[in-house]
Amino acid sequence: MHTILLTGGAGFIGSHLTRLFVRKYANYKIVNLDKLTYAGNLENLRDIENEPNYQFIKGDITDLELLRKLFAEYKFTAVLHCAAESHVDRSITDPLAFINTNVLGTASLLQAAKEAWSGEFENKIFYHISTDEVYGSLGETGFFTEETAYDPRSPYSASKASSDHIVRAFYHTYKMPVKISNCSNNYGPYHFPEKLIPLCIHNIINNKPLPIYGKGENVRDWLYVEDHVKAIDVVFHNGKIGETYNIGGHNEWTNISLVKELCRQMDGKLGREKGSSEKLITYVTDRAGHDLRYAIDATKLKDELGWTPSLQFEEGISKTIDWYLANAEWLKHVTSGDYQKYYNSQYRS
Ligand code: NAD
Ligand code: TYD
Repeated sequence: MHTILLTGGAGFIGSHLTRLFVRKYANYKIVNLDKLTYAGNLENLRDIENEPNYQFIKGDITDLELLRKLFAEYKFTAVLHCAAESHVDRSITDPLAFINTNVLGTASLLQAAKEAWSGEFENKIFYHISTDEVYGSLGETGFFTEETAYDPRSPYSASKASSDHIVRAFYHTYKMPVKISNCSNNYGPYHFPEKLIPLCIHNIINNKPLPIYGKGENVRDWLYVEDHVKAIDVVFHNGKIGETYNIGGHNEWTNISLVKELCRQMDGKLGREKGSSEKLITYVTDRAGHDLRYAIDATKLKDELGWTPSLQFEEGISKTIDWYLANAEWLKHVTSGDYQKYYNSQYRS
């Protein structure tokens, strides 16, 4: 039995996590605290918004007074912390927004939990959801393990690394019962179309250029979002207190080969001539400080907790494309307004 403060539940991963917990654990209460930034969208949660064990609260994780009030009112036994500023390119133009939410926001949540739980840590969990980007950039070989030294290079990854360190500091200093997981790149339904995969799906549908940074040789390790949230479920219930678990799919793709696979599948699904979407590929100026390669070694999670990804990439991508084609209204809503302004300034050259 848990009453869970789930932060960032209106975002991409948060909405999948909220759905999983609300549906799977009828005896838990899930309170979703989300500021509804450009990336937060209550449409992501339409199918569960009326469930009796779910509640939404609009608010900011940096607002310590609000957090204190919520802990007093709901008597949370657990925190599932997903809220963050999450897009590397935005962190390059506005680093302070990342430091504010990712560092101060996480510290405020820890502080509120520490005050509310005041040393009574039995059956309590503070679960911090983090990224493999904290480990920095790999060369052509090797993998990130839980022992890899932190070496973040973007304002986004530095802010996430900082938040991981603060979470561990609360574990060592106050015995706060924390868990951390660091996951590789996710993809799937409800992914905001500023990130590579949904951006390319959107642009292929609309016959717009597919912007590839640099030569397209950077490598990412992609995991279907539902596999990520299943791993979080496993770590939440069976992971050891104070431990970190890496989550990844052993599924490395260079950006250019990934985009070509997207083009190939979408030509088929849209009934377009073979090779026509690839013509949209456009090489653009590289991202500043662009990390070359991420790749996760998830052996600890497999050996200790028995988790492995369930979906092969070609199948996951096919499901993802089908979802975007079936949800044109969702895509239309999130690509209007503020997003259009961001897009025009990011890709103006
Ligand atoms: P997202 O940008 O889609 O969603 C973030 C959510 O947090 C949004 O709903 C937003 O409104 C909310 N939020 C932002 N600032 C807030 C604040 N100050 N107070 C309250 N709510 C706020 O992000 P995502 O891709 O779903 O990522 C979720 C978490 O998973 C992040 O911590 C991210 O670092 C981590 N992660 C993401 C990936 C990935 O590939 N997307 C991979 C590994 C880890
Ligand atoms: P992204 O989806 O932003 O995730 P992250 O930077 O967190 O890995 O980017 C994935 C890869 O795709 C990354 O190497 C940057 C590259 N990329 C492009 O080539 N063009 C784009 O328009 C975007 C958004 C990303």
